[in-house]
Amino acid sequence: MITCPRWNKSTLIFGGTALWGIVLIGCVAANRTMVAPPQIAGAKFVGSKECAQCHTDQTDHFATASHAKLALADAKVGDTGCEACHGPGSLHVAVGGSKATIINPRKSPETCFQCHLDKRAQFSLPNSHDVMHGKMSCADCHELHSGNAVAGTGTDLEGQNATCTKCHTQQKGPFVYEHAALREGCVSCHNPHGTINQKMLVARDANLCLRCHLESTGGGVINANAINPSAQNHNARLMQGTCWSASCHEAPHGSNANNHFRY
Ligand code: HEC
Ligand code: HEC
Ligand code: HEC
Ligand code: HEC
Ligand code: HEC
Ligand code: HEC
Ligand code: HEC
Repeated sequence: MITCPRWNKSTLIFGGTALWGIVLIGCVAANRTMVAPPQIAGAKFVGSKECAQCHTDQTDHFATASHAKLALADAKVGDTGCEACHGPGSLHVAVGGSKATIINPRKSPETCFQCHLDKRAQFSLPNSHDVMHGKMSCADCHELHSGNAVAGTGTDLEGQNATCTKCHTQQKGPFVYEHAALREGCVSCHNPHGTINQKMLVARDANLCLRCHLESTGGGVINANAINPSAQNHNARLMQGTCWSASCHEAPHGSNANNHFRY
């Protein structure tokens, strides 16, 4: 894995703009542009150990967090941790903690966009979860203080779907007839950051379904295929709309009544 060169404490305190330029160049190559560290007027970086005095909930398991591991991956990175997202903490520590002296990313995703610039673009697409106006937070779906930032990374797909179904209970099921596609995750059909398509679908039309239900006779026609040997020729039907239009597969997540997810 190529990791982005990351800052260390002394870089942040003493490095200044010139060093940030170097970091920036390194990050562009990894499709991630660090424009500047989060700023808090008049504050300096103090290091994560300081935070542990008062915030054990967040510091106790931070070593297991994706972002802490990323920092450790490069021996030169050193102790950056908390302030990468919360901004320099010297004023906050000096006053014994106050909301005005520290950044809380729940209120604005800007601090995440510093490193994940591509996400700003995704969340600006016409169909997206409303993170840009603060109605939702990256933290509704991502765990930043311990463990994997993306739930269900690896084999635990249940965990990833649960990230979605805690809010979208209707799609949770159980269904009498569950669409096996759900086992490959909600993200096999939706991009929760945003897409140009309605309902944050990753494709607009039959192409969504053809990602798995591969045509066997060409021309975008659904026919008998590896997943569904009994499928009929769908040519005429596809002229009328999408696979999930009215009177077709209206229940793409699963159905309690129809094994073809018609209703
Ligand atoms: C001396 C104790 C102390 C230290 C050290 C400290 N904090 Fe805090 N912090 C607090 C207190 C108290 C609050 C709650 C302020 C309030 O609710 O008005 C707080 C609140 C916060 C919040 C929530 C702000 C909000 O808008 O809700 C964040 C984020 C935070 N601290 C991060 C940090 C980080 C990062 C560090 C290390 C650089 C740190 N704190 C060090 C005492 C401390
Ligand atoms: C990758 C970014 C990131 C890092 C690194 C990070 N945090 Fe946070 N932190 C967040 C986000 C996002 C929230 C808002 C979470 C929420 O509201 O559920 C948050 C919230 C907090 C809060 C407020 C909690 C509350 O209940 O309001 C504190 C305190 C805090 N972080 C401390 C820390 C400390 C201490 C560290 C280092 C050990 C740290 N954070 C590292 C992203 C981060
Ligand atoms: C200091 C830079 C930095 C900041 C700030 C930052 N990240 Fe990251 N984050 C990274 C890097 C580097 C990676 C690993 C490579 C990648 O996926 O881009 C990463 C990875 C991730 C991942 C994927 C983790 C995985 O296991 O695959 C998520 C999710 C994530 N970040 C969310 C956030 C959120 C949400 C915030 C704001 C609260 C945030 N990040 C702030 C640098 C940062
Ligand atoms: C509605 C839930 C949701 C919200 C809100 C959300 N994410 Fe994600 N994010 C996910 C899921 C699910 C994945 C895993 C996608 C996959 O496996 O294909 C992911 C993956 C990622 C990744 C790693 C893979 C990639 O796309 O680079 C990063 C980085 C990331 N998110 C950053 C963010 C940031 C930053 C925010 C806030 C601005 C955010 N996410 C808000 C659900 C969400
Ligand atoms: C914190 C709650 C929450 C979480 C977690 C969440 N969502 Fe959402 N989602 C919403 C809200 C709120 C809306 C917008 C209101 C609405 O239309 O229901 C929405 C809208 C959607 C829509 C579009 C609905 C429409 O009618 O246009 C889809 C699709 C969606 N979410 C999928 C997901 C997926 C996939 C995940 C998991 C990666 C996820 N959501 C996680 C709250 C959440
Ligand atoms: C096989 C592809 C597929 C998978 C997998 C999938 N969805 Fe959907 N989803 C769709 C389609 C297609 C629509 C649009 C239905 C419509 O417009 O009538 C949709 C619509 C939605 C909506 C909007 C409300 C609605 O029913 O129209 C939400 C919310 C949603 N999905 C959440 C989820 C969640 C959460 C998961 C994972 C548990 C998931 N989806 C998995 C294809 C899928
Ligand atoms: C991520 C892969 C994937 C995607 C995308 C997908 N499916 Fe499926 N689908 C499956 C799998 C796997 C099965 C189970 C086949 C089996 O049990 O033999 C299935 C089964 C079905 C069935 C039941 C088969 C039957 O006998 O009737 C229907 C209907 C169906 N899918 C429709 C759709 C529609 C409509 C879409 C687009 C909204 C879609 N699928 C997208 C993987 C997928």
